[in-house]
Amino acid sequence: MKPKGPIPPYFEAGAAGRLAIGGQDAEAIAAEADTPCFVYDAGIIATRLAALRAAMPAGLGIHYAIKANPFPPLLAWMAGRVDGFDIASGGELRRARAAGMAAARISFAGPGKRARDLEAAIAAGVTLNLESEGEARRALAIGERLGVAPRCAVRINPAFELRGSGMRMGGGAKPFGVDEARVPALLRHLIAAGADYRGLHIYAGSQALDAQAIIDAQRQAVALARRLDEALGAAAPLVNLGGGFGVPYFAGDAALDIGAIGAALAETVAGEAARFAIELGRWIVAEAGVYLTRVVDRKLSHDRLFLVTDGGLHHQLAASGNFGTVVRRNYPIANASRFEAPEAAVATVVGCLCTPLDRLADEVLLPETAEGDLIAVFLAGAYGASASPAAFLGHEPAAERLLGAAPERP
Ligand SMILES: Cc1ncc(COP(=O)(O)O)c(C=O)c1O
Repeated sequence: MKPKGPIPPYFEAGAAGRLAIGGQDAEAIAAEADTPCFVYDAGIIATRLAALRAAMPAGLGIHYAIKANPFPPLLAWMAGRVDGFDIASGGELRRARAAGMAAARISFAGPGKRARDLEAAIAAGVTLNLESEGEARRALAIGERLGVAPRCAVRINPAFELRGSGMRMGGGAKPFGVDEARVPALLRHLIAAGADYRGLHIYAGSQALDAQAIIDAQRQAVALARRLDEALGAAAPLVNLGGGFGVPYFAGDAALDIGAIGAALAETVAGEAARFAIELGRWIVAEAGVYLTRVVDRKLSHDRLFLVTDGGLHHQLAASGNFGTVVRRNYPIANASRFEAPEAAVATVVGCLCTPLDRLADEVLLPETAEGDLIAVFLAGAYGASASPAAFLGHEPAAERLLGAAPERP
């Protein structure tokens, strides 16, 4: 038997002993949406956003990195609740705009921005987080051709890294951002060339669960921004401190202490002239999502029980362990049809793809599970549907549903 990750604290059994999501019976949701499907609970996202606002210093901008979950109804719900969207492509720009987010509140980071995407962003008035001197050159040329001053911030590749992060995106040779030492010259060039200077962006890593590591990285980022302001003789209008806030996916992981981060950040930015923002994806949405898939077959091989589902890694690649993890570990998983039943059998839950990589859970303890039961894979709200190879083997894409997003009455 192998351990599974902790089920987020927002889920409980409904009246029939089945999993409830946003107060609705998982079976009823699956009957309406069909399986496999991703279900996102806006109530959980609202709870997390409120906790984040309460923990962070007043006035700190909270931006949502839409790459984590760009489901259009979720973006439309989110647009009025965060201070900005971070986008990474022309496609995300279109989704952000369709969701109603004002262009002035959108920032565009990411290497390899194509000319047509730069042009669309500049024309719309989106802030570019420039990743290189070459990108700055291209942006300035497009701005000149369009007759607009491009809104430009510079993404810095800092000399420090975010310790303990699942994905390191700063420190040493990286394709992201401009090496710290070359930033002052680039900033001077941008301002002299007539760009609309919007500030600095420092994104050092992702999926960190150690609050102290984030506190240290934020302190270093603020100090770096101060040094750059001094070198330039001009204050950055906005310093985007990045994010990296992780969530507990696996056995032994503990929730990040955002209270400690907020308290330390309040001290770090006290007395600073600049405005600050953080940009988070998974911390805001990961725990709000559940991937529901139905058991199609139940079979034994060499005394090992396999539950074969109608889903798999083509929808939820991350749970199979093939998205950014070195060692495969089990995501939190449950039998949604028998959420309250005692765990009684060790089973390996696989998808319907003919590859041994397609494992949703490896030798986990579950209740006695029958064909037709619904399996819930938690932590599916971030890097799920949009981060999985949906076209692989020609299966249908998973349905997506956002629950609890009805507009509030004034
Ligand atoms: C520039 C940038 N911002 C934000 C994010 C979002 O990270 P997360 O979803 O882990 O918060 C990423 C992730 O790769 C990123 O590269």
